[in-house]
Amino acid sequence: MCGIIGYIGEKQAAPIIFSGLKKLEYRGYDSAGIATLNNGIHIKKDVGKVKDIHSRINLTDLPGFIGIGHTRWATHGGVTKENAHPHTDCSGEIVIVHNGIIENFQELKRELKHHKLKSETDSEIIAHLIEEEMENKGFVEAAKTALKRVEGHFSLLILNKNDKRMIAARRGSPLVIGVGKGEYFPASDIPAFLDYTKDVIYLHDNDFVVLDKNGPKFFNLKNGENIERVVSTVDWDAEQAKKGEFEHFMLKEIIEQTETIQKAINQKMEIVEEVVGDIKNAQGIFFVGCGTAYHACLTGSYLFSKVAKKHVNVVSGSEFPHFEHFLTDKTLVIAVSQSGETADVLEAVKTARKRGSKVLSIVNVMGSSLTRNSDKVLLTHSGPEICVLSTKAYTAQLALMLLLAYATAGKIEDGRDQLKNLYNMVYNLTALSKRKKLKKLAEKLKDKEHIFTIGRGLMYPTALEAALKLKEVSYIHTEGFAGGDLKHGTIALIEKGTPCITFVSNGTEKEILSNAMEIKSRGGYIIGVGPKNNDIFDYFIKVPKSSVADPITHIIPMQILAYQLAVLRGCDPDKPRNLAKSVTVK
Ligand code: F6R
Repeated sequence: MCGIIGYIGEKQAAPIIFSGLKKLEYRGYDSAGIATLNNGIHIKKDVGKVKDIHSRINLTDLPGFIGIGHTRWATHGGVTKENAHPHTDCSGEIVIVHNGIIENFQELKRELKHHKLKSETDSEIIAHLIEEEMENKGFVEAAKTALKRVEGHFSLLILNKNDKRMIAARRGSPLVIGVGKGEYFPASDIPAFLDYTKDVIYLHDNDFVVLDKNGPKFFNLKNGENIERVVSTVDWDAEQAKKGEFEHFMLKEIIEQTETIQKAINQKMEIVEEVVGDIKNAQGIFFVGCGTAYHACLTGSYLFSKVAKKHVNVVSGSEFPHFEHFLTDKTLVIAVSQSGETADVLEAVKTARKRGSKVLSIVNVMGSSLTRNSDKVLLTHSGPEICVLSTKAYTAQLALMLLLAYATAGKIEDGRDQLKNLYNMVYNLTALSKRKKLKKLAEKLKDKEHIFTIGRGLMYPTALEAALKLKEVSYIHTEGFAGGDLKHGTIALIEKGTPCITFVSNGTEKEILSNAMEIKSRGGYIIGVGPKNNDIFDYFIKVPKSSVADPITHIIPMQILAYQLAVLRGCDPDKPRNLAKSVTVK
């Protein structure tokens, strides 16, 4: 789970790579480095965030028109300068940056024991493997042969001191190439080069690319054959990937939800109709996602029950392989993911395809691995989500779930109307006055050790998602429960002043208020989120009545609260500790 970017063209490479690394930091931010080629290899790397490293050792003055860079999220080996990328071989002539995991690292290391490895990473072995192959082959052939021997996931950029070409390759981990005029930007993700071009080549697994100023040449790593790849143009723009007037991406992306929810429902009718046909014909439907996307799936299952009267199973991506035996060629798997690169979701889809099941994906990043491994795709059109926490992609996923549930019930226009009505509601929910009120609540909560969130029915997944948002960014322990479940054990933790956020929604009002009362009777501090105040509440957050769209309206104040808590507690809302945006390891 790291970010890589390279540049080859007529401009100085280091400043371009530096700006790309800052855009990729959501993928990993414990160390970073750049290597350029100019009469030899020049490398600078260190631990810390890209901008802090730059202020210490100036990353932009490396000379040359070709270069590669990396921002790391440690998997193999601690956070040290030695483990930071780029890595070189013994001779210092081959230099690589790598995102992924080399599964046969130990075996290769034993085989190359006469090589001097300088780091504890699995990645460095690739440089040595190429060095070994170069004893009797040229750079490109040596790299091809070496990569054939590597097991696991990689997206890789490779330079050789004595060659003006760059090699890019991918298997399992994401890699795209930005195409400018006489310049190329291979990178883990599109925002890295959006300032320079919107033209993109999406690489497939086992693509091996030789890049020089005249353009890329593509080969299949498995059989060595020449292949063609097409250039597509993305509808994202550079501004979307910038913070603009906002201090953090998280706040910017929360506010963007007024627009992004509306963009999500803007789907081609023919595709929605086809999907509805698949849903109706399926014998067994599974919703699969991880983390926040899993909560969208869970909400979807309530919507399908309530609106479409259709049974669906919901499984977290990492658990999906255990359900393999329920899958047939009549099963429909609906995979939900912002990045389209989450390893557990991709593995789930692989399992489904092995069994002949159909795969529909609801995904934000066009060209991602998930879009390529699905029979049909519905894009959420949220634009780049840079903050590590998912906010706007989540509500877009919810909007699509709602739309599909209504479409399956044969009432798509009703669904669309409900979602269109959200425009003003979401605008008001994210207004400055609302943010200020939530800041006051954050001030009350900022030193608490525990927070609990409860909801029933549609509000149960909302309680889970609220808890995830609050804990992952503020580091306050927060747990979400179904309203009726707290009394089966966890109520033992309620003490005087323990905050419990209670989501009140149509149809579950009476029961959830009585659950809140059980907590209040034990000293709990009740924060009500709903359309109507109540004597039970010690603090009230008003949200408009929106019926089945409540999961969207009720989560927005929680996203804002999570943001305010992070800021007050001195945490970085865009880059919470230990996390990375796309979890590309199992
Ligand atoms: C939490 C969050 C994660 C992701 C999860 C899946 O705020 O962002 O829980 O939702 O890692 O990621 P995607 O949606 O990219 O598959």
